[in-house]
Amino acid sequence: MTVLGIETSCDETSAAVVRDGREVLSCVVHTQMQHVPFGGVVPELASRCHIRLLPGIVAQAVDESGVGWKGIDCIAATRGPGLASSLLVGWSFAKGAALATGLPLVAVNHVEAHLHSVFLDPAAPDPAECFPRVGLAVSGGHTNLFSLPEPGKIELLGRTVDDAAGEALDKAAKLLGLGYPGGPVVDKRARGRTPRLGIFPEGNVRDGALVPGLDPELCTSFSGLKTALLVHVRNNPPQDDDQISQLCCDYQEAVVGALVRRCERAIAKTGARTLAVGGGVSLNSRLRAALSNSCGRLSVRLLLALPRHCGDNAAMIAGLAGTGRGIPPPDSFGLEIAPSWPVSDR
Ligand code: KG4
Ligand code: ZN
Repeated sequence: MTVLGIETSCDETSAAVVRDGREVLSCVVHTQMQHVPFGGVVPELASRCHIRLLPGIVAQAVDESGVGWKGIDCIAATRGPGLASSLLVGWSFAKGAALATGLPLVAVNHVEAHLHSVFLDPAAPDPAECFPRVGLAVSGGHTNLFSLPEPGKIELLGRTVDDAAGEALDKAAKLLGLGYPGGPVVDKRARGRTPRLGIFPEGNVRDGALVPGLDPELCTSFSGLKTALLVHVRNNPPQDDDQISQLCCDYQEAVVGALVRRCERAIAKTGARTLAVGGGVSLNSRLRAALSNSCGRLSVRLLLALPRHCGDNAAMIAGLAGTGRGIPPPDSFGLEIAPSWPVSDR
């Protein structure tokens, strides 16, 4: 099955064509840069940009796939979670395109698609051979840990109660005057340094009432980390560039440590032999190294997305739909966007 995917949940405008859930025939991603001066995504600017660019990006993806519209069997688009005004553009476009072409329309969950992004690497194993597994989706908008015990089953194990990991890195960079988005800058500045441990808290969730039905040990709270940085900088203002870089390293280590420990706990709890990690923060070099270390020690297979599939992209949307996941017709056409759509079995 060859699927055209459309992704507009935040500030990336993307379209892709993927065959049988794995083979990326084309993937066009436009990352909107007009938000940089604002230090974060401005929803109205994002949706206006999606409206302007999406038709051309879809045409380019179909063209570059080499199969043309005649070779497409299905249209899949992100229905949620994400920014409402951004989701509306891609989801409405996909409905229109499906009506005009007579192709089936599939509603895809963006967070679940991040978990699938690891399988877009031709070197990755067959997803069917990777059960039971633990999945971590970690980006500027999400920090979610899942158990995937068998095909068609997915269960939320943990989540952040406040900021996502990427958001925590973005806010730290902003506070240190390093610009936006902060994750890549913090990563670069921290490289080659030894973290000082214990300066920043790990981000534990102490009150189980905040995460009903979930194990607090598998959840995170990163907002206190940002406050700790604020207090630290107020009491010990960094004197030079070198001290700022050291703070980046210490802070990043707190975020990475929290994520790795939760993955380790989820693996112990579920008995999973595979860990799959996707999302923009999975580009982080320290996180990749720490996960690789941890999985090596535990003899767990680690699957990381290719760098080009870590951030938001439509190949993961088309890919996930190509494995049979998502909501197909006749239900799909009646669906609205779902800005807080949780991942579920269906
Ligand atoms: O998946 P993504 O493109 O969009 C969302 O769905 O949020 O992720 C963007 C996030 C931002 O917070 C950005 O700072 C972070 O991913 N990020 C990184 C790195 N590259 C991007 N965080 C840490 N290290 C990186 N190298
Ligand atoms: Zn995302």
